[in-house]
Amino acid sequence: MTGGAGFIGSNFVHHLVRETAVRITVLDKLTYAASRESLEGLPSDRVSLVVGDVADGALVDGLVAASDAVVHFAAESHNDNSLTEPGPFIQTNIVGTFQILEAARRHGTRLHHISTDEVYGDLELDDPQRFTEATPYNPSSPYSAAKAGSDHLVRAWVRSFGVVATISNCSNNYGPWQHVEKFIPRQITNVIDGDRPKVYGTGTNVRDWIHAEDHSSAVWLILQQGRIGETYLIGADGERNNLDVVGRILEHFGRPADDYDLVTDRAGHDLRYAIDSSKLREELGWRPTYPDFEAGLARTIAWYQAHEDWWRPHKQATEASYAAKGQA
Ligand code: NAD
Ligand code: TYD
Repeated sequence: MTGGAGFIGSNFVHHLVRETAVRITVLDKLTYAASRESLEGLPSDRVSLVVGDVADGALVDGLVAASDAVVHFAAESHNDNSLTEPGPFIQTNIVGTFQILEAARRHGTRLHHISTDEVYGDLELDDPQRFTEATPYNPSSPYSAAKAGSDHLVRAWVRSFGVVATISNCSNNYGPWQHVEKFIPRQITNVIDGDRPKVYGTGTNVRDWIHAEDHSSAVWLILQQGRIGETYLIGADGERNNLDVVGRILEHFGRPADDYDLVTDRAGHDLRYAIDSSKLREELGWRPTYPDFEAGLARTIAWYQAHEDWWRPHKQATEASYAAKGQA
């Protein structure tokens, strides 16, 4: 798998070690978003780490040749960074996926490509339709456009070259090992530090939250039982607006629900994402194990309280970079 030292990838590694007998080779460039710590303590006969770039065709070719299946998580993943410096998003998300596809094509290797619901653009707050596998692509940011591009490459390689691939598009993940630049960890750690949560715009934007563990179980199921060439949307019916989420975090710490700052909005900020995961549930029988967002959030807060040594070294620089954009 690629990107296994990142947030969702490392959760997937832990899931596989716990729930299966597979051996995993992680290819990860160890960018700012990665953490070696997230893979520490795992059995060395089950998990090995190769430090390198998914856009390095020769390296990818050798690793894919030696694998039964590839799960491709590696990406530049943060919308705000894509607005400041889009180049790495094109390189990793599009060129990197191209190299994975070419290797899968040469070796006939089963591939599962990890994508996002953000490729579909956004919904109105009162839109009764949620995203489905049939929703037209309409990405808004350099991040989501690059992810959309990678999905299109996968679809083309399946159709034109017979690559044995599936795709999943998941909603917003939360859970352990998520970088403090992202919404939920940023606000939890701000509150731990006695600072106020920083909410973009008016805070009415809606995200559809799913625990990373539930994303992992869905991916493993699709890898085993998904129909080749198909796309599956992954979501856990977790729609909340940003003020709701911040309110829950503040409440958890006994702080007033209005103890947050509204800051400069994100350019092109998508209003609402929402996933209809009926296909995954009906065809493959998948169900989330964390259907209760508030309970999952409380566990995640406890995890950040217990792992300050992990996130602390990144907090100051992350906040300085938000401050430079008027978002602190
Ligand atoms: P992340 O930023 O936490 O981790 C990305 C990992 O990829 C890091 O370990 C990084 O070092 C690695 N990486 C980056 N560029 C690389 C390169 N060129 N070569 C090799 N490794 C490289 O991201 P995440 O939040 O864990 O997201 C993982 C995947 O899931 C991405 O494809 C993302 O688009 C998708 N996704 C994320 C979410 C979410 O809410 N975070 C939701 C749906 C889909
Ligand atoms: P984020 O975690 O960046 O995920 P995405 O952009 O992929 O949805 O942001 C989630 C939501 O939270 C999004 O509406 C932007 C908003 N947000 C804030 O209000 N404040 C913040 O400090 C951050 C990082 C995000």
